[in-house]
Amino acid sequence: MVHGGAGAMDNIKDNKTAVRYLESIRRVLEHGREILTLGGSALQAVETCASLLEDDPIFNAGCGSVLNEEGKVEMDAAIMDGRNLSAGAVAAVDNISNPIQLARFVMTESEHVMLISEGAIRFAEHCGMDRAPENYFYTPDRIEQFNKARLKHKVMLDHDDTENDSEDQKYGTIGAIARDSDGNLAAATSTGGIVNKRMGRVGDSPIIGAGVYADNETCAVSATGYGEDFMRSVIAKTISDFIYMKGMNAEQATQAGIQYLTDKVNGRGGVIVIDKLGNCASGFTTKKMIHGWIEQGGHAVVRF
Ligand code: GLY
Repeated sequence: MVHGGAGAMDNIKDNKTAVRYLESIRRVLEHGREILTLGGSALQAVETCASLLEDDPIFNAGCGSVLNEEGKVEMDAAIMDGRNLSAGAVAAVDNISNPIQLARFVMTESEHVMLISEGAIRFAEHCGMDRAPENYFYTPDRIEQFNKARLKHKVMLDHDDTENDSEDQKYGTIGAIARDSDGNLAAATSTGGIVNKRMGRVGDSPIIGAGVYADNETCAVSATGYGEDFMRSVIAKTISDFIYMKGMNAEQATQAGIQYLTDKVNGRGGVIVIDKLGNCASGFTTKKMIHGWIEQGGHAVVRF
């Protein structure tokens, strides 16, 4: 399963734009299935799918990341392996084209779970990752969005429609979760965060248990939404706990999680979930969430 953000999607005004989003999600799902079909692991599948979404400028992650109050990109990402609960995360990193790959290096090449900012960048260099040039990130749409946010002196959410000050905008993040043929689960989440956010602000995406979680005994979860809500409700681990402690399946745990998110913090956003048996579920409190899933046979299902 993958997702590409949740919200009202007021910015997706025409059919051509909608098709562009849905086709990107479909392409990524088919690529992920190819990896699994060829015997790749769930971890490889989610890292590759998240990387492809980071490479697509229509999503708020990687090259399409939104700009902070300084007009700079600061990205967060995390990846988790359900086999042994190993995890890697990076926060407030810039000039890295695929933060999810750096998160994977943190998991596999360091003794830590999270590295941030300059320390994470130094670690990327240590791992031989290239720094992307600044102009790789600054898409015309993001610069326009940032300038509008600054003029309004407000923090805006990804793909905010500035003609519409509704709270229910698109909350950008990308995410991928998978179960492989050995029954292993993995999850990955990556984001540029929120437009005009404070320098140093970190959202839920790199926080294990908030924006991402994977445990072979329960499920894999990736969240998208207003990060502060997801951090306060520890939503990904909460959904996993519903399965672990109450014996729920993916659908039941997702519904219970969305109810909890709403009751506790009136949270805005959504989740995708695959449980240990391979059942897929999704839930969101916003009007829409761009997401899809694909199984061993059959076609990709993609929807808002
Ligand atoms: N969910 C992404 C963020 O709030 O940064």
